[in-house]
This record gives sequence, C-alpha cells and structure tokens, in this order.
Amino acid sequence: MNKAKQNTKVITPKTSDDSLIIAEDVANLARALCDHLEGFAGKTFLITGAGGFLGKYMVFLLKYLNEHLLEDKVSALLLDNFITGYEQQIGADEHLVFKRHNVIEPLQTEKPIDYIIHAAGIASPVYYTKYPIETMDVGTIGTRNMLDLARDKKVKSFLFTSSSEVYGDPDVKHVPTPETYNGNVSMTGPRSCYDESKRFGETMCLTFWRVYHIPVKIVRPFNVYGPGIRPDDYRVLPNFIEHAIRREPLPIHGDGRNTRSFCYISDAVEAVFKLLFSDVNGEAFNVGNPEPEISIEELAKTVATAMPFKVGLVKIDPPHAVYASSDPKRRCPDISKLKSFVDFNPRYSLEKGLQRTIRWFSGE
Ligand SMILES: NC(=O)c1ccc[n+]([C@@H]2O[C@H](COP(=O)([O-])OP(=O)(O)OC[C@H]3O[C@@H](n4cnc5c(N)ncnc54)[C@H](O)[C@@H]3O)[C@@H](O)[C@H]2O)c1
Repeated sequence: MNKAKQNTKVITPKTSDDSLIIAEDVANLARALCDHLEGFAGKTFLITGAGGFLGKYMVFLLKYLNEHLLEDKVSALLLDNFITGYEQQIGADEHLVFKRHNVIEPLQTEKPIDYIIHAAGIASPVYYTKYPIETMDVGTIGTRNMLDLARDKKVKSFLFTSSSEVYGDPDVKHVPTPETYNGNVSMTGPRSCYDESKRFGETMCLTFWRVYHIPVKIVRPFNVYGPGIRPDDYRVLPNFIEHAIRREPLPIHGDGRNTRSFCYISDAVEAVFKLLFSDVNGEAFNVGNPEPEISIEELAKTVATAMPFKVGLVKIDPPHAVYASSDPKRRCPDISKLKSFVDFNPRYSLEKGLQRTIRWFSGE
C-alpha cells in the first residue's frame, strides 16, 4: 500500500519553542562556545530583534549558560517591537529582561552595556513588501541609535546583522561571493528598502569605527533556517516545510532554477558569538554554509524526500514583485574569511539541518 495513504494524520505546524530539538541545539551550541565562557560571565548584553528567529536562539543560549555553566550570570536587555516577531517573552527571567521597544526611538537606560547585537530587521521579502518604511528605518535609524548607544556605553563589541542581500543579484563571476564584492543592487527596485538599508547600516558601522573607534563587526547571513523560524515567515524553507506538513504540494515560484545555500541556525549563532568576542573590528563577514549551492527545485525535492509521506511539487507564478522581478539568480557565500579569522566550520549538513527542522515543525 502507498505510504502516503497509510499515514493520514495531518500534523499541525509547530509554533512553540518548548522543544527538545532546540534544547539539544542550544546545549551543543554552548559546547561549541565553551572557550568563550569568560566573554559571557557577568556581562550585560543588549540584543535587538530578540523576539525574532536568530534573536530567540541567542536568548536560549544565554539562559542555558546561566542555568548550567556560569556562576557569574550573564544579563541581557532584550528589545523587540514584535512587528514580525510573536509577542512573547521567551526565556525572560530576572537576568534576561524583555522590553517592548522600537529601535527607531533612542533607548534611555542607566544600565552599563558590554555588548550590543543589533539583530532587529525585517528580513522576509513578504514582510518588507508589507512594511517598506519600517524596513528602511530599522536598518538605518535603528542602526544609528544603536551605534550612538554603543559609543555612549563604551561597549566592548558591537555586532550588526546585515544581509547577503547587500550583494543584490551577483554577477556569476562573483559566486561564491566574497566580502570584497561590492554588489549588484538596485536602489529603486522592490527589494531596495531592505538591501539599501543594510548597505547604509554597514556604512554607518564602519564610519563609527573609523571616527569613534567603536569595535564593530558586521555579519552578512546567507539564508539561515532551522527550528524556531516562523512557519508563516514565507521564506522558502519554512514555506516548503509548512506545505509539506500540510500534505500540500510545495510551491516553486517561477522555474525553480535560482540557487541558494542554507545555513542551519546554530551554525549561524555560533559564528555571531565567535565574531562578537573576536578582536577583528571594522570588518564584514559572510555567515553561511556554501555546501550545497542548490536550486530551488532541487531544494523542494530534497524537502519532499525528507518527509515520511509523499508530497508533490507545483510551479506557480511568483505571488510577489520581490520574487518576480528581482529575485537574485544565485546566492552562495565564500566563507574563507570567516574561517580564517575565527575557528568556524558549519557543523550541520543540509540533510541533517532539514531533518531537525522538520522534526521541530512536526512538534518535537
Ligand atoms: N534569517 C536569515 O536568513 C537572515 C538572512 C540575512 C539577514 N538576516 C538579518 O538578521 C537579523 C535577524 O534575522 P531573523 O531571521 O531573526 O529575522 P526575524 O524577522 O525573525 O527577527 C527580526 C526581529 O526584529 C524585530 N524588529 C523589526 N523591526 C524592529 C524595530 N524597529 N524595533 C525593534 N524590533 C524590530 C522583529 O519584530 C523581529 O522579531 C535581521 O536583521 C535580518 O535582516 C537574517
């Protein structure tokens, strides 16, 4: 009998973070960062976008360190206006304090701050189409406010999460793309509110480093995925898994020939903290996993194969202008700079990361 028919239960996609898979990831992440415990102990972090996908994993990690490894606890001020994040204060306790705050307003705080991770942003193309002004503002005004705060507090380190989108639609001669490539970006197209705000955010970071000697680091994430990502985020992997779990055909926008490379969440968060604690300032780093560079159609097939029941694929017209007219054709990072400055190697293959993500979406 057909396997698909045997298994008729429709699984409801997961939205909770109380998950074995995430707990396991966070424990492994803490092990990967065990040489940096001194960097965390007794320090105060400010994390913006703390209710988002990357931000939450960072909060889980700090909580784990406090509960299992640190005598001198780490403190954090966790900011989010929840424009795209779920309104929930995951991991909040006496040391880890959430504050609803829009970073386009300056933050008043008497507290000392050792480290700032500015991860607030509107990263999903569907949401930056819906909120283009807010997208520009968080990347520009929000970044400026965080840099001013970094200067006032004399932070030990400041990290800005930029994006691989700063490269726009790279010339194939520059794929895999190194940090030295200046990009092929439209300043007026449907993605420009995001792409150009990240580019100007980077300019501000480097200017603050040159003028005020703020120890800034910039990361350019390439398609990070994993447990904890919003099922309704519309980015390609959660979108495929969401459909697969509902036993609906996986929707491929257009011909499916564009390529991407995907980085598992805990690999990305490991790179973020290793860079934050490093002494390489005034530099940008690609953060991603170049293996494999995979077409969207191949990715859909890989997700379908990883499911315990049969699901199909369907090619559809791109539903949004950001996908129709300006979707980069190839995206794959050159991570040799990251590898040479910090001890980093992606730990999760696409297959392994996908299995973990599907298990999380399925409720584990
Ligand atoms: N996940 C990726 O693959 C990826 C790729 C490239 C860049 N990035 C960047 O990394 C950062 C984190 O990405 P993510 O995947 O966690 O995104 P996310 O959308 O899950 O989280 C971002 C969080 O920022 C918050 N936010 C947005 N505007 C804000 C504002 N004005 N004030 C306060 N909070 C605000 C949102 O509510 C959300 O919770 C973002 O800056 C994003 O642009 C992520």
